Amino acid sequence: MVDLRAQLDEVRARFAPECAHAATTQEIEALRVRYLGKKGEITLVLRGMGQLPAEDRPAAGQAANEAREALEAALAAREAVVAADERAARMARERIDVTLPGLRSPMGARHPLTKAIDEICGVFLGLGYSIAEGPEVELDRYNFEMLNTPAGHPARDTQDTFYVSDTVLLRTQTSPVQVRVMESTRPPIRIVCPGRVYRSDTIDATHSAVFHQIEGLAVDKGITMGDLVGSLQLYARRLFGEGTRIRLRPHHFPFTEPSAEVDVSCWVCGGKGCRTCKGEGWVEMLGAGMVHPKVLAGCGIDPEVYSGFAFGIGVERTAMARFGIEDMRALYENDVRFLVQFK
Ligand code: PHE
Repeated sequence: MVDLRAQLDEVRARFAPECAHAATTQEIEALRVRYLGKKGEITLVLRGMGQLPAEDRPAAGQAANEAREALEAALAAREAVVAADERAARMARERIDVTLPGLRSPMGARHPLTKAIDEICGVFLGLGYSIAEGPEVELDRYNFEMLNTPAGHPARDTQDTFYVSDTVLLRTQTSPVQVRVMESTRPPIRIVCPGRVYRSDTIDATHSAVFHQIEGLAVDKGITMGDLVGSLQLYARRLFGEGTRIRLRPHHFPFTEPSAEVDVSCWVCGGKGCRTCKGEGWVEMLGAGMVHPKVLAGCGIDPEVYSGFAFGIGVERTAMARFGIEDMRALYENDVRFLVQFK
């Protein structure tokens, strides 16, 4: 009996400093197993009870229970302290400083070409036009033939392009979209067709082998050249300011008759002559004309009943004019220092 109590005291004496120094919940759990587990020290001492005389057993059992409860209480108390410390340490580690400035992702902006396309189309959408698109890889038939430009026509020479086969090419203009629309819908037609076009041009400050056009087309009964001039006049004022005038010079396109090249009065000097208009007072902006009767007829629209006008706007040229860009190549190089100016 004396012996057993001394053993328990010895175990408790060893346990006390170990418990006091346990620094983590894992260490505490290890102590619990070592002292109170199935093969733990207290359990081993209790096994020895079987050898005690019967009358000593109740007192020994009580002493053993006391010892176990004392150990359990000490472990629980230590565990509470350690767990609180661990939680506090984790909180400190995971603390988020909400006063730190966040990581901003830089805001993008629309490309000047996209801006110009939106502005130009916006004017015509306001006039009741809708947007139509067509393929960039186009049939010779739509790009040339149905636009009154048969094989061998000299106008083809000025629009050399990239051929996929004898009959398929990269479109040289957005005009094939007007053919596609006239073939598949009936007048009244009012469309603008923005898109990429290709010509085998050498790249310099004012030329690119890939560029953009916006084709416009209006077909209805009784449409005259006056409607064309009025529409383009309004377009020029919206884009370049109220005082802007336009001027038509006779020209030739195979698919319009009569045809004109359209100049806009210089938006920098107002027509007096400056660097932007190279002293001319006018800047060439687009091609236009009355849709050729042959083109209407080819699309199944009776030219005796219907008439229409068409125009083709160069997007690069317009963007360069609107935003004061001097070299077309800047539009394609995607240099952020350039693009960031159009925010
Ligand atoms: N497609 C012509 C060009 O690229 C422009 C144009 C369009 C002219 C429509 C008249 C009518 O040169």
